Parts: sequence; C-alpha cells; structure tokens
Amino acid sequence: MTVKEKIEELRAELHRHNYNYYVLNTPEISDKEFDDMMRELQDLEQAYPEYKDDNSPTMRVGSDLNKNFTQVPHKYPMLSLGNTYSENEVTDFYERVKKALNEDFEICCEMKYDGTSISLTYEDGKLVRAVTRGDGEKGDDVTDNVKTIRTIPLVLHGSNYPQSFEIRGEILMSWDVFEELNREKEAREEPLFANPRNAASGTLKLQNSSIVASRKLDAYLYYLLGENLPYDGHYENLQEAAKWGFKISNAMRKCRTLEEIFDYIKYWDVERKNLPVATDGIVLKVNSLKQQKNLGFTAKSPRWAIAYKFQAERALTRLNLVTYQVGRTGAVTPVANLDPVQLSGTIVKRASLHNADIIEGLDLHIGDMVYVEKGGEIIPKITGVDTSARSFMIGEKVKFITNCPECGSKLVRYEGEAAHYCPNETACPPQIKGKIEHFISRRAMNIDGLGPETVDMFYRLGLIKNTADLYRLTADDIKGLDRMGEKSAENIINGINQSKEVPFERVIFALGIRFVGETVAKKIAKAFKNVEELENADLETLISIDEIGEKIAQSILNYFSNASNRELVRRLRETGLQLYRTEEDLSGYTDKLAGQSIVISGVFTHHSRDEYKDLIEKHGGKNVGSISAKTSFILAGENMGPAKLEKANKLGVKIMNEEEFLKLIS
Ligand code: IVH
Repeated sequence: MTVKEKIEELRAELHRHNYNYYVLNTPEISDKEFDDMMRELQDLEQAYPEYKDDNSPTMRVGSDLNKNFTQVPHKYPMLSLGNTYSENEVTDFYERVKKALNEDFEICCEMKYDGTSISLTYEDGKLVRAVTRGDGEKGDDVTDNVKTIRTIPLVLHGSNYPQSFEIRGEILMSWDVFEELNREKEAREEPLFANPRNAASGTLKLQNSSIVASRKLDAYLYYLLGENLPYDGHYENLQEAAKWGFKISNAMRKCRTLEEIFDYIKYWDVERKNLPVATDGIVLKVNSLKQQKNLGFTAKSPRWAIAYKFQAERALTRLNLVTYQVGRTGAVTPVANLDPVQLSGTIVKRASLHNADIIEGLDLHIGDMVYVEKGGEIIPKITGVDTSARSFMIGEKVKFITNCPECGSKLVRYEGEAAHYCPNETACPPQIKGKIEHFISRRAMNIDGLGPETVDMFYRLGLIKNTADLYRLTADDIKGLDRMGEKSAENIINGINQSKEVPFERVIFALGIRFVGETVAKKIAKAFKNVEELENADLETLISIDEIGEKIAQSILNYFSNASNRELVRRLRETGLQLYRTEEDLSGYTDKLAGQSIVISGVFTHHSRDEYKDLIEKHGGKNVGSISAKTSFILAGENMGPAKLEKANKLGVKIMNEEEFLKLIS
C-alpha cells in the first residue's frame, strides 16, 4: 500500500468511526484505538504535506489561530418562518394550503430546534463552507469552527448525493453541556449564558476553533436545497441525507389531517422535555417540493411552512415589592416579590428582574399584574406587564435604588456592565460574609465544621469582621453558642488551625480578589515568590503572566490599592498562612526561560501540551498563543500547522523540537 492509500484508508476509517460514535451513538472501537488512529494520520499528514486535505478528520481538533470571519452571500436567501402561538392559525394555515393546492398533500411535522441556524454547502461529497444566517442575504463564514462539530460530516457516505447542494439546520448546545459550561463560568466569576441558544451562537462566533472543539456543539439538519435532489418529498430527502451521514431528527412525521397534526403537537409539547436539546415549537412543512414551489414565498417567509411555538409556561400575578440583593462581589440584583403563584409544578414568590435596564424597559409599577416565565432559565423571570389591568390607583414607578440597601454606600455602574455594584468591599455586610464564606470553602481554605450559617452567627455576634479574625477565635469564645457544643467548638478551631497548611495558590484564591479564580491563582503562585511581590507588581508585570489580561490585572491592582485589604493580608500573613511559596512548591523552578515568549504548536510525544505550558512557566518563560516578531521560539511537536510554519519562517522565528527544549531546561 502506498502512503497516499494508507492516508486515505485512515481518513475513511476515522470518518466512519466518528459517525458511528457521534451520530449513531454506537461506537465500534475504543476511544484509545480512535485516538491512536488519529495520531497515526496526523503523523502521516505532517510528513507528507502534499496529501493535505481540508476535510481530513484531523480538522476536528480545531486550531488556535485567530481569525476574523469573512462575509459570504447566501446562494438562496435564508428566510425565517411565519410564527404563531395559536392553534386556530395552524388550522388557517392548513386550510389555506388545501385551498391553494386543490389536491392531496402531506404536511411534514418536525421539531423547531432552538439554537442558531447554519447553512452548509457540500461539493463532490465534501463540506466546503458553513455560513451563519447573518442578515438572511449574507452571513459569516464559520467553516473552521463548524468542522469541529462531530455530528456534521466532513465527507459524505455513499455516492448518490447531488454533486453540489446546500443543507441547513440548527447548531445546538445540549442542556448538559450548557449547565457544565455555566458551572465553570460561575467558578471563574464570568457572566453566565442565559440559555443554550446564546451559548451555541456565542461559541460558534469564537475566534479560536480549538475552544469551539472543546464545547461539544451538536447539530440537527432540517432543510435540503439544490438542483438535483433525490426525491420530491422533503421528508424522503432528509431520510436519504441521514444515509449520507447527517444527523436528522427522529421526531419527524408526515401527517395528512389536522387531527394528526394536533396529535403530534400535543405529544411533543410534553415529550420535548425529555430531549437533550432545547426546542421551542413545531415546524409544519408541505412535504412535496413541487407543491412547495407552487405555493411560493412571501417577502419574508415561505407560504408552504409555518412554525407553531409552544407557549412558555407563564403565570400572571401581582408585583408587591422590589427588593435588592447584594452578592459577594457587591453586584446588586433586583428581585420581584410576588403574590405566590403556581408555575410548572412549583410555587413562585420571587423572580429576578436582572438589572436597572430591564426594570426601565418594562416600565414597572408597584401593584402591576406581571407575567412570570420559566423559560430555558433556571430562575423565573418577569417577561411582561398586563398594562390593561392597571387601575386608576396605579402604584409608584419602580426606580432602581441609588444606595446599597445593606451599607448605604452610593452604588456604581462600571462601563460596559449592566449591573450596579456596591463599591464598599471591605465593610458591606453581605460582601464581608460572602468573602468569609468563600475563604472557608472547600476549594479555598477548606475549613471543616464552618459553614455559611455559623459564619453568619459569628458575624452577627461581632466575633468576626473579616477572615483574619477567624484566627483569633478560641474554643472558649464559641462554645455554648447556639447549637455549639464543646466538641464542635474544638473541631472548628482545629479546622481553622489546620488551614495554615494550605498551599500558597489556594490562599491566593481564598482572598477572593475579583476575577481571580483557581486557575489564575495558580499562575500567580507560580509567578510570584510571595504576596509582597504580588502586592508590589505593576500592571505590566501582571499582564505578562499567562491567563492574566488587563481586566484581571486591574482588579488585582484595585484590591491592593485598598488599605484595608493590605492590612488584612498583613494580618493573615502574621497568623502564619502560607502567603509565600514553600521549598516544596519551589522545586523545579528556574530562570532559564526568563523573558522569553514561547509558542507551542503541534502534537507531542514526551509531555502533553499542558505539561509543556507548566514547564515553560516553571522556568520563567511565558507561553503565548500566536506567533509575532516578539516570539522567542516555537516549541514544535509533530503536525505543526502549515500556516504557523509559514509565519514562523517569514518572521525568522526559531523552531525547537521537544528534545531540544527538554535539553534546554534540564
Ligand atoms: S425550516 C424557509 N425547520 O427556525 C424555512 N427551521 O424562523 C427554513 N428552525 O431560522 C427553516 N427548527 O433557525 C426549519 N425544523 C426546522 C427548524 C427551523 C428550527 C429555526 C431556523 C429558522 C427559524 C425560522
């Protein structure tokens, strides 16, 4: 077998296994075997660049090259569908079609997937382009990102597909992946995605396709367009497309009567709650393409299709009061206090109003009858006001507070943020309590026996006003307090003392500096010998550290510019917390790569990419994402991307292999 044949064989096998695993959910080989095959292919492609293929399975891993999207016109405009929430309008649609066609017809009923739409173009069985809807006339070319989606075939199966065609569908993020992503964002104190739709479209527009690859997007295809489609039926064409490797919904059904259509709607309105992805309605399409053509389009949407949207479960109730919650970071959240009302199986008394702009947009008044919805979101929200229910006794207009409800400080609004903040970080009670709770939490100082309620009690009794006060507590101070026996008092004090063993990086994390999550804390602990160095670092030094950008650096500077924070850190250090690197933490650190910016590229044999990143940092270097004239050298594994290679050569940046690098730092 020639090399070329071997490469082709591996590609075909990997495409097949990818399809079995991601589309059919029936893998034939182990993950390890799959990875090994992928590695073998990567090696061969690297060694024989003349056999390069833009649709190779190796494209699935993405690339960390940044790139701006180019705009591409759609061959057929991407129209939207007429929407309705009313069953009567479904009947009207059916009757209209019946009258216009004046012959037998079938309606294909399918789920309306709630993601972001995509148009895929295939030529000679290969994916050549993926474009977002954009303004319907032209969209963004997101081909590289879309290639990372495992349920989208790069190369089609079989041979009876048209030479050139377009297929459209919806890119989705499953509920599971969405929740996981938001948990990670929460831990990093980043703003959360409101729903899977926003998460999917946000992900698709990321510049870095290797992050897209890690987000596990999914895709259902629902509309085939082209000149030479195999059948006259939309349904039949999609069943055929499933054989070419596309993921086609199992929930499609052809109906003849209105009764069948309403049965379908009733069934899926309930059953959709068990689907792994979000849906927001049903799409009804005249099945025959010939009949579709007869019916034609209006300016905005096809006459042969309509979307029936499910009513989001909502309830109408009275707004009694708006209260404000102050979180650990000082963010102030307005909360609607409502007459209790039943909604999707639970009683709702409170709902989020998010921020001042939302309150203003609703023109909210106390006493208003408001609609509460539980959409894709976890916390119910107010989506509207029944203004017709307003009497002459209309209550006061809701105005966002100007001062913190807890400490009276004047609230601030940072540029570009929707939230108001209480800036009184060091003396505002919920912020203090929140900081102490964060400090004692498992991933920070991990103090056994202490929880939010105990912290709250100690704080109320004036025993602690900040985290350093914890270390002054004695068992005598706390035993005999509410539900606090001698034993639990001792446990708490022991737990507090044991926390003095917690390593530097976790103490940094425990300080609760805004935007300094666990990962950033680790980088800080590696970059600075002790907290004094961190305290004295300037902006430039801070942003030279991997993972630290201007926003985080500024937050660190702000933290230490506050005298009470500096005093707190001084006291924590005096109590004996590890606000410095120990010998143990330090082993393996050198200055061998000091001042060097290093790009990592390719696939490695001796260590993983992350391990190389760690090694670079341990030896004082900086790992950077893209090649520039300032790059000191590229640590290159196998299969380094051709674009990177070209750029490196152009800029005269040195390329170093694994062995040379390991020798350099040994
Ligand atoms: S067909 C010309 N089928 O809903 C008709 N659309 O407003 C093309 N959508 O932009 C669309 N599920 O993003 C079709 N089964 C489905 C769909 C679907 C979701 C989305 C799509 C489109 C919007 C229509």
